[in-house]
Amino acid sequence: VKRFWDQVIEKIFIQENVRKIVEIGALRGENTVKILKYCSAYNAKLIIIEPFPQFDVEKLNEEFPGYFRLYEDISHHVLPNITGYDAVLIDGDHNWYTVYHELKMIEKKAKKRGKFPIVFLHDIGWPYGRRDMYHDPDLIPQKYRKPYTKKGIAPGHSELIDPLNYEKDIKCMNAHMNNALYDFGEKNGVLTAVEDFMKETKIPLSFYGVSKNHGLGILTSKKLDVDNKIKSIFKF
Ligand SMILES: C[S@@+](CC[C@H](N)C(=O)[O-])C[C@H]1O[C@@H](n2cnc3c(N)ncnc32)[C@H](O)[C@@H]1O
Repeated sequence: VKRFWDQVIEKIFIQENVRKIVEIGALRGENTVKILKYCSAYNAKLIIIEPFPQFDVEKLNEEFPGYFRLYEDISHHVLPNITGYDAVLIDGDHNWYTVYHELKMIEKKAKKRGKFPIVFLHDIGWPYGRRDMYHDPDLIPQKYRKPYTKKGIAPGHSELIDPLNYEKDIKCMNAHMNNALYDFGEKNGVLTAVEDFMKETKIPLSFYGVSKNHGLGILTSKKLDVDNKIKSIFKF
């Protein structure tokens, strides 16, 4: 998601006067630092949800004191306990069950508050838009978990590719991840989760998406002025 920061996310934050942000999935904190620079410039606050932070939390605290709170936990445990945020960046576990329920939890809080936040979703494009991946398969109820294995994904191939035994011309990626054995079909992938959520919600929402850099989606309240601003920023 960090690749979209300068051209899209920061511009929308400034435009919409975003003051409280939730980041789901921080990994090495590369995007986190960008968000925190925004927070210190605009007096905003960041909630980071990351079960396995791979950055120096103390150092970040020294650099940006008082600007963030880190929950070393998964999104489904934290989202029911936080509220009042203007924007959420979803870039955690890229599968239907996790993303669909993250959106449901955000919607529940939005109904109480009377305001739906701007939700940015990474990986709505290839390879995880239509294919589940599980950081920790045990966290996904069996009913929602697709058959998966640690093999690679190659463009144009629904089946996974064994990186040790592939035909020379097939380059595959993410062979170390738990990837669903096939793409498409019901309840499979991040974009499918967004579409299923959109079909059910009663809140009038707009959705914008681009497919480059594995895809970025933006879900926001349907309001003409906000829609027009996001549309103009999203043409990049
Ligand atoms: C793709 S990385 C995030 C990259 C980061 N947003 C960036 O732009 O640099 C995904 C991260 O999500 C975390 N993660 C996995 N499952 C999660 C969950 N259920 N809730 C929150 N974070 C999760 C992983 O530990 C991993 O660090």
